[in-house]
Amino acid sequence: ARSDSLPRSLAGKRVVVSAGGTREPLDPVRYLGNRSSGKQGYALARVAAQRGAQVTLVSAHTVALPEPAGVDIVHVGTALELRDAVHKAAADADIVVMAAAVADFRPVTTATHKIKKSDRDPDPVALTRNPDVLAELVQARAAGRLPASQVIVGFAAETGDESGDVLTHARAKLARKGCDLLVVNAVGEGQAFEVEDNSGWLLAKDGQERPIALGSKAQMAAEIWDFVHS
Ligand code: CTP
Ligand code: CA
Repeated sequence: ARSDSLPRSLAGKRVVVSAGGTREPLDPVRYLGNRSSGKQGYALARVAAQRGAQVTLVSAHTVALPEPAGVDIVHVGTALELRDAVHKAAADADIVVMAAAVADFRPVTTATHKIKKSDRDPDPVALTRNPDVLAELVQARAAGRLPASQVIVGFAAETGDESGDVLTHARAKLARKGCDLLVVNAVGEGQAFEVEDNSGWLLAKDGQERPIALGSKAQMAAEIWDFVHS
């Protein structure tokens, strides 16, 4: 990690950031979604552009956010669309940050017409797995289909439970995903979702662990970029 606090330049770097939450359609008017606001991903894209990076922001659904200046934005809906956009943009990227909340599952079928209610009980919704985009990036890099020097960053929102605390789960996720850095948000009462302030840890593949101070998502973005290009 860096010893001084000056932001080093990202000038000349190609950066891809995914943000927001995917929506998996059930019919033309309904979807399975999540509460991601997109604020952290947008803050990361904005700060990277301010530091001179060439930024592609792959944006799934977000709350109303201003488009960061000087950033190429690709809007996507579903996890499959996000996957295509991220893989395309990652081909020549130096750094890929997966801040999006990608739905783990999608409905097996999408009805072409609005599902109508009737007198009988509704059918259960059958789900199938979505691809793990982050894990695919790590595999693609290992297979030589992405630059070997590419830095791949994941996010995890974790709670403690009976099988371990937040950090225990996060270390296991870092190992499972194989990414270079995992940004861990501790989630619980009033934390991480739909709020301005966040707290957590940065866990690196080489074993470095650094707490991130409670602060705005812009401050966290600055800390994350400091760590990535240190
Ligand atoms: N991710 C992804 N594709 C998915 C699911 C997750 O690329 N289908 C990425 C997220 O963008 C994030 C990281 O993987 O950077 C961790 O997401 P998370 O949901 O915490 O991990 P999962 O492996 O899905 O585990 P969990 O069972 O805890 O949801
Ligand atoms: Ca998940």
